[in-house]
Amino acid sequence: MNLQHKKVLLCITGSIAAYKSILLLRLLVKSGAEVQVVLSASAANFVSPLVLETLSKKPVLQDIATGSSWANHVQLGRWADVMVVAPATCNTLAKMAHGQCDNLLLAIYLSATCKVLVAPAMDEDMWHHPATQANLETLRNFGVQLADVSYGELGSGLVGMGRMQEPEQLLLDIEELLLKKASLAGKKVLITAGATHEKLDPVRFLGNNSSGKMGIALAEWFYLHGAEVHLVLGPTHLLPKYAGIQVLNVGTAAEMFAAVEQNFSTSEITVCAAAVADFTPIKSYDKKIKKEEGKQEWELVLTKTTDILAYCGMQKLKHQLVVGFALETDNALANAHKKLLSKKADAIVLNSPSPTTGCNSDTNEVFLLTGDAEALHFPLGNKQDIACKLVEKFIELYDNKK
Ligand code: CTP
Repeated sequence: MNLQHKKVLLCITGSIAAYKSILLLRLLVKSGAEVQVVLSASAANFVSPLVLETLSKKPVLQDIATGSSWANHVQLGRWADVMVVAPATCNTLAKMAHGQCDNLLLAIYLSATCKVLVAPAMDEDMWHHPATQANLETLRNFGVQLADVSYGELGSGLVGMGRMQEPEQLLLDIEELLLKKASLAGKKVLITAGATHEKLDPVRFLGNNSSGKMGIALAEWFYLHGAEVHLVLGPTHLLPKYAGIQVLNVGTAAEMFAAVEQNFSTSEITVCAAAVADFTPIKSYDKKIKKEEGKQEWELVLTKTTDILAYCGMQKLKHQLVVGFALETDNALANAHKKLLSKKADAIVLNSPSPTTGCNSDTNEVFLLTGDAEALHFPLGNKQDIACKLVEKFIELYDNKK
């Protein structure tokens, strides 16, 4: 529900890609947004107003004037937090760029005080035409945000550039446009997340079941606060939602440490959320380890890995904030407090494994420990919401250092 309390004007123009706008509308509503749909005359040939009205729970607006009533275009552009034109045809783009005003959508655009996002959709030759490219440049200079077009099958049957961006990506673009703040602009944030895989032989490793969900959620919220985010991510099938987050994929604890070592000194905030292996095999085999006839036991010698959080705690300068995590099963608060001191962290996020909390679940319940102050409790909630609150707290701690 990232878009709760946000107001979106979804303007649909006449392209075959209009069918994707129905999915976008659904995603916006699911994300908590209030959506007012505006439909151009030709768009109504591609999508039914009834579908859009049912999904948005509002009458669809099509004309400036209907009978004796008229749609107040100035008010609409002020009501909305963002005006999204998706799909935007070549014709609408050209009219927007040249200030023409012969329909409701254009009247709203010309008087809009809100942010504007445009998702073009057209055939490849129209897309590459210098007139279209010049119009796009004009709109960019007006401050309009342009969604990328993608390559693929087009309405004409040709294959090329010009497909409208997929609704899921458009939702992320809208979220980024509406939620991104500048509180951490120009600041670098370093995060470790996920498990590590300590190699035994070409097909086996020692690992744990950390998914990286919590660290990825933290990276996303730091990104939405405007930070330059570097995410050192252990093996996982998950990735952060926003392409602007720089992901450094690593496998082993040693690789994770090397990535942190390279980035730590230039980072203002470092959060070690990864479940790093404490030990790694002293030897990893090039060939698959085979069973030996008659041998019932096999000894594995392990050696300690570098404690990345402790390294950051030791190296940190006065202005740098270092936060760690603690996964505890017993004496949780006391053990977490010990980690805070021994690793010289500024704060520790304590969580405990249970079916609804810890490594691989979608929800978590945590305590934030800072020095001698009483631990702050964040009750059970989804990891996205907890990450959002934690990041706000981390920023507060960072600001207090100045
Ligand atoms: N950590 C790390 N490097 C390691 C081990 C742990 O950076 N080699 C970090 C984790 O990312 C976490 C914190 O240290 O932020 C605590 O990790 P946790 O697994 O709870 O504890 P350990 O330090 O490994 O100690 P123990 O397993 O004995 O509880």
